[in-house]
Amino acid sequence: MAITEQEVQEKIRENEETPVLQVKNLHTSFFTESGEVQAVNGVSFNLQKGKILGVVGESGSGKSVTAYSIMQILADTGKVVEGEILFKGENILKYSEKQMNEFRGDKISIIFQDPMTSLNPVFTIGYQLREALQLHTKYKTKAEANKRGTELLAMVGINQPETRMKQYPFELSGGMRQRVMIAMALACEPDVLIADEPTTALDVTIQAQILELMKSLQEKMGMAIILVTHDLGVIASMCDEIIVMYGGRVCERGTADDIFYRPCHEYTKGLLRSIPNVQNMKKKLVPIGGTPINMLAMPKGCAFCPRCDNAMKICLTEKPDEMQMPDGHYASCWMNVKKMMEEEQQGHGTEEQMLKDLEKEEPAAVRNIDTI
Ligand SMILES: Nc1ncnc2c1ncn2[C@@H]1O[C@H](COP(=O)(O)OP(=O)(O)OP(=O)(O)O)[C@@H](O)[C@H]1O
Ligand code: SF4
Ligand SMILES: [Mg+2]
Repeated sequence: MAITEQEVQEKIRENEETPVLQVKNLHTSFFTESGEVQAVNGVSFNLQKGKILGVVGESGSGKSVTAYSIMQILADTGKVVEGEILFKGENILKYSEKQMNEFRGDKISIIFQDPMTSLNPVFTIGYQLREALQLHTKYKTKAEANKRGTELLAMVGINQPETRMKQYPFELSGGMRQRVMIAMALACEPDVLIADEPTTALDVTIQAQILELMKSLQEKMGMAIILVTHDLGVIASMCDEIIVMYGGRVCERGTADDIFYRPCHEYTKGLLRSIPNVQNMKKKLVPIGGTPINMLAMPKGCAFCPRCDNAMKICLTEKPDEMQMPDGHYASCWMNVKKMMEEEQQGHGTEEQMLKDLEKEEPAAVRNIDTI
């Protein structure tokens, strides 16, 4: 049966709207001698074509494990135990090893925190770039790959690219090596680029240059980026959307404005109080108290509960669901439920038990939850 013009248009619209990457209820664990480390506990997000998604959270919150689950490069003890990862609507968790190898080269690339872990010290930059190009792109001969490799180095702002092609990683500065990593990741013109703390090892001015470079390349090449960092300040100006992670869960998601000016999760609020920004330049910075949670024994309720100054009875036992805030962004914190119920109560009254559970908990009961 012939397809109508209207159906064609609908298909095109559908394709445009389908996120390039969808992570649905991802659970990843490591099975260690001490037990199951639940590193990622139900993470979901969508990444639209050509957009930048920031993933922020303190050390150990599950940012890298989320990235490695997408790339399927987890340690042998690690396993995605639940959930789906859809690339243009197709579940890549069902791919064979061969399909996944092709996928990693062609569709999705990753830049690691430390370039020395991913650049091979015994081969020249040129050799490593040529290998990626010849394997995954149309530049099949040595001469073609050499020419394209040199162009890529120039594109990421490396001076004397012809000379650099012949050099070994140790002959380059840290900033240059990170640029080489970006060139390698871009060699196959991926649809999605995952940058896992791409600038942490660099000094501040180089950091800014690298981020600027990534943003301009993203605009030029139209790829989508997942930018992983523990530094909220770094991503504010770059990202279309930010997700804040804690204890392997997403606690808040929204635009940079939502997160910075209207935070609705106690962890995000703590994070903002602990970093310098224009709002608190004259205020004393307040670190988040307590220690990160023990991933071998996740709290039953809210993961942030043992460190939350505003924890309530319900936070100890019930996981807060994600809720849409009046401005449209999302957060998972019982405080928002409390606020909503109090507002409702003023109008119509509400269930007494629920409000009792939403009373502030004694600090001793909260601190008692298992921590490292
Ligand atoms: N190979 C592994 N075996 C056991 N546990 C692991 C392994 N890799 C990661 N984990 C645990 O998974 C949790 C999440 O780790 P992850 O590396 O994702 O943190 P992160 O948010 O990227 O932190 P950072 O900012 O320090 O890079 C941590 O508790 C970590 O100890
Ligand atoms: S759910 Fe409860 S413990 Fe968790 S951040 Fe909100 S108030 Fe604090
Ligand atoms: Mg990490």
